[in-house]
Amino acid sequence: MSRKLVLLVALLPIIQVYSANVNWWEDTFIYQVYPRSFKDSNGDGIGDLNGITSKLEHLKALNVSGFWISPIFVSPMVDFGYDIANFTDIDPTFGTLKDFSALVAKAKSLNLKVILDFVPNHSSDKHPWFQKSIQRIKPFDDYYVWRDAKMVNGTRHPPNNWLSVFHGSGWTWNEQRKQYYFHQFTPQQPDLNYRSPALYQAMKDVLTFWTDRGVDGFRVDAIIHVFEDARFLDEPAIPNTGLPVGHYETLNHIYTRNQNETYTLVNDWRKHLDSRPGGKKILMTESYTGLQTLPSSMKYYTAGADVPFNFMLISNLNNRSTPLDFKRAIDGWLNIVPAGYQANWVVDNHDNNRATTRFGRKRADQIIMLAAILPGVGVIYYGNEIGMEDTWLSWNETVDPVGCNAGPEKYYLTSRDPERTPMQWNNSTSAGFSTNKTTWLRVNPNYKTLNLAAQLNDKYSHYSVFKRLVDLKMSSKIKNASTEVIIVGEHVLGVRRKSGNVITALLINFRDLTIPVYAAGWMNLPEIMTIYTTNHEWMIPPGSTLNTTLFNIPPSGSIILQSNG
Ligand code: NOJ
Repeated sequence: MSRKLVLLVALLPIIQVYSANVNWWEDTFIYQVYPRSFKDSNGDGIGDLNGITSKLEHLKALNVSGFWISPIFVSPMVDFGYDIANFTDIDPTFGTLKDFSALVAKAKSLNLKVILDFVPNHSSDKHPWFQKSIQRIKPFDDYYVWRDAKMVNGTRHPPNNWLSVFHGSGWTWNEQRKQYYFHQFTPQQPDLNYRSPALYQAMKDVLTFWTDRGVDGFRVDAIIHVFEDARFLDEPAIPNTGLPVGHYETLNHIYTRNQNETYTLVNDWRKHLDSRPGGKKILMTESYTGLQTLPSSMKYYTAGADVPFNFMLISNLNNRSTPLDFKRAIDGWLNIVPAGYQANWVVDNHDNNRATTRFGRKRADQIIMLAAILPGVGVIYYGNEIGMEDTWLSWNETVDPVGCNAGPEKYYLTSRDPERTPMQWNNSTSAGFSTNKTTWLRVNPNYKTLNLAAQLNDKYSHYSVFKRLVDLKMSSKIKNASTEVIIVGEHVLGVRRKSGNVITALLINFRDLTIPVYAAGWMNLPEIMTIYTTNHEWMIPPGSTLNTTLFNIPPSGSIILQSNG
């Protein structure tokens, strides 16, 4: 046997072990489906499970590894499914358990992973558990966070100053039980009490129920809020915020967020999921991160979350951010991810204005390009693949409780409806989302031209760019490559990845002006590189070559280049 062959044979077992150990989500894109808005199969104007099943080929064509679905469980829909009245059954709006099984079976046949939304912090006030808790029926009596009123001069007050994320006191009086209950969100979403052993087990059983039905993991809602400090002390006020009384950001939430017990709980769920058959399950935890709170986000990794959502592209950066702001935010996350874990980049979700609004419609592809070239998992939201935009909705059309709470003058500042309007499949009735002309949220009028069908065969469309980006993310040319985030002058951000001799580089123009760049010098690039893709507006054919010494990036343009290796 030649020496090379001996070496190859010796390496074989190592190579096999390595590929067997790679988790299915690593260096892939995961897609969020908002079920009310994805596809309506029965013409009631609201999306449903059979609708999602009928569109799984679309996700397959995108080549995402899996998709997470916002809640589909029995719910009075005060918070559109995030108020759950039965954790182990499907809401009739969306279909039945049988429909769910059909969805899972089809996803499996397409090799797409199914991730459910697990909402552990609260239930609906219509959940039988809450109704029994009100009546102090055991063991439900302590399933929720109940406290006596604080009496001041004979007047009843909430037990402390804790606030709801959705504004105002986090405590609501229950006349029947004669106590206050705590809710971090709306009063119709009472917080569950994980100090009750029966509740603790009941929620773990929910994970078992769905893994038994073939799901591949969970996105965990509002994880940071799950435990509260048992001393129920007032939280300190943040001085001079200028915000109105009762605004959530007026307090420093040291007793109601990221408590130590929360990490222990996540770790217990991790172990539980690892003990379930059917392959490795993903845990994606929802915790909003600022640069200051990075360490607490990192603790979710070591507790057992595979994807503690990195929301920096959503909450820390916007169209006023400079390349330096981006570099700080990106390096801030990359440099601190614990060894053995992957970074992740969330582009959009159902709680925030779309990237097309946050950065401007011409810059939407740029953000996905970043999520694609940076190491780790990219998380996108339905419609990102076609550059969908927020929809302006009037006060009368507003249904989101957060928008409604803000009132007719200010609803548009907080409402989450604009980013939740129906998926734009084609230019037929209701954008092909529903046969019904009336849909739960109005379809964006731009659907006549901005829709999937119009983009499928256009090689410069958002869709075609996106598909190339998904391929790039999974390509061996950037897997395990080194990463450098480089400021290329005042207005251009660069990312350079190098694996062996192959260099992949992204350049993003932050300004709506043409900017000349000396890319070769600034980013240490070979003189001649191949264009992998440009953004949707900058139509240069992929595969053509470019001299990197000096070239112009058009207004809001971006480009990914690759060396031949
Ligand atoms: C976070 C979810 O993403 C949001 O939509 C919901 O309103 C709150 N958690 C409460 O469940």
